[in-house]
Amino acid sequence: MSTIETTRTGLFLDEYGHFINGEWVASQGGRTIALSNPATGRALAKIQAGNARDVQAAVAAAKAAFPAWSRSRIEERQEILLEIARRLKARSAEFARMESANNGKTVTEATIHDLPEAIGQFEYFSGAVYSLHGETRDYPDLIGLTHREPIGVVAQIIPWNVPLLMASMKLAPALAAGCTVVLKPAETVCLTVLELIREIGDLLPPGVVNLVTGYGQDVGEALVAHPDVRKVAFTGSTATARKIIEYAARNTIPQTMELGGKSANIICASADLDEAARTAALSTVFNKGEVCMAGSRVFVERSVHDAFLEKFVREVDSVQVGDPSHAETRLGAMSSRAQYEKVQGYFDIARGEGAEIATGGTAATVADFPDGLFLKPTILSGVRNDMRVAQEEIFGPVTSVIAWDDESEMLRQVNDSRYGLAGAVWSNDLKQAHRIARDMQTGVIWVNTYYNLPRGMPVGGYKQSGFGRELSWDILRDYTITKSVIIPL
Ligand code: NAI
Ligand code: MG
Repeated sequence: MSTIETTRTGLFLDEYGHFINGEWVASQGGRTIALSNPATGRALAKIQAGNARDVQAAVAAAKAAFPAWSRSRIEERQEILLEIARRLKARSAEFARMESANNGKTVTEATIHDLPEAIGQFEYFSGAVYSLHGETRDYPDLIGLTHREPIGVVAQIIPWNVPLLMASMKLAPALAAGCTVVLKPAETVCLTVLELIREIGDLLPPGVVNLVTGYGQDVGEALVAHPDVRKVAFTGSTATARKIIEYAARNTIPQTMELGGKSANIICASADLDEAARTAALSTVFNKGEVCMAGSRVFVERSVHDAFLEKFVREVDSVQVGDPSHAETRLGAMSSRAQYEKVQGYFDIARGEGAEIATGGTAATVADFPDGLFLKPTILSGVRNDMRVAQEEIFGPVTSVIAWDDESEMLRQVNDSRYGLAGAVWSNDLKQAHRIARDMQTGVIWVNTYYNLPRGMPVGGYKQSGFGRELSWDILRDYTITKSVIIPL
């Protein structure tokens, strides 16, 4: 494998290698992928288009590093996790600009959300690591011990919507647990992930973290079906998850899957409509709606429907779309042309299904950004839950509004979804709020708020939204395995 040396022009290097066994190397296939800024269309950097041979090398490095790393002292791993957090903090502003440049999100959002949350993952798991230990059980005539051991080499495959945070959510618990890693970020947006690994590479023994870039279809199967890989963690689409589960089945390895969503944001007549409307607008535009937990189905009680819709439209219409680096901008560019076109396809589907476009419904033109992938934030009203716009994940700044009369019929519709990742209920009636939360088939429910995740709360799906609970202690169970030792007295 040949090592790569490149120069930095502006924010990024001209070309990034794979990171395998502590070195930056070119793909053995000799192909690269050019990444661009979705707001300006300008080229940013090239990454390696990896192949199965690159994967073999990365898994071999992770396997070789595992025995020593899995036996490293907790104090050592804790200090490394804390040092990663410190280094990210020291370069936060630069990382926020990089995330914006590659993904299209606003610098403001990257600064107040992506960076602190990513840093928080390393901080959280640096503490949680001390709670990973075996147990003893007492029997009259014997002692039972369980050791909790790191599971081995893990494959981690992540998407492009919040890449630095995704990498942190995956790496922090795996490293805390003592696993070694082969990480594959998305081929469209991954430059902050490459920069993270550049920043922290010297802290880790060679082979503990390896990174292979490229298209999923070129590297996914070789990675997940590799007999030396002991677990796979994936975040992305349900369609790709099914393929990964098939590769994992051939390898008989456990999976954690964080997949799509079509979350219900339920507004009852007693709710604070101003706050509910403000928050529904936030959920529509936050990260351009490219968020698995977006509250993309708003169920409003009919008696307050018109009043709510008017406020919601006003909030969404006040959102400034445009230059992601401008402090006033709240909606940047879609991450990729594929995503930009997919969402516009749903504008047509909505019209065809008889939904009303209460606002938005087209691309947005932004002065000085003629090649930018901008969309107007969009509210669809008069939606029925059986329409495609209410059933399929759009993953854009689009929210469907559905009116309801009867609570139990509304809940039937809320749960009539293949997904179940998040959701909210707005009510000033305590019993009603608890009643509805109990009945929602979904992994995270907010009461009178949205997008409020205190550190350590488990996040994960019901149904086709996946399985496994990340961002919390629970995920450490998935990166470890127990061994029972029985000692007769
Ligand atoms: P995707 O699920 O195909 O991509 C996510 C990751 O999986 C990327 O790193 C990709 O390279 C990798 N991948 C693709 N095919 C693979 C394979 N055969 N083996 C292994 N890895 C593979 O998502 P995509 O196509 O970029 O987006 C399509 C839709 O998926 C979005 O519009 C959105 O609805 C949903 N999605 C949901 C996400 C979430 O956070 N739950 C994140 C990204 C996408
Ligand atoms: Mg795909």
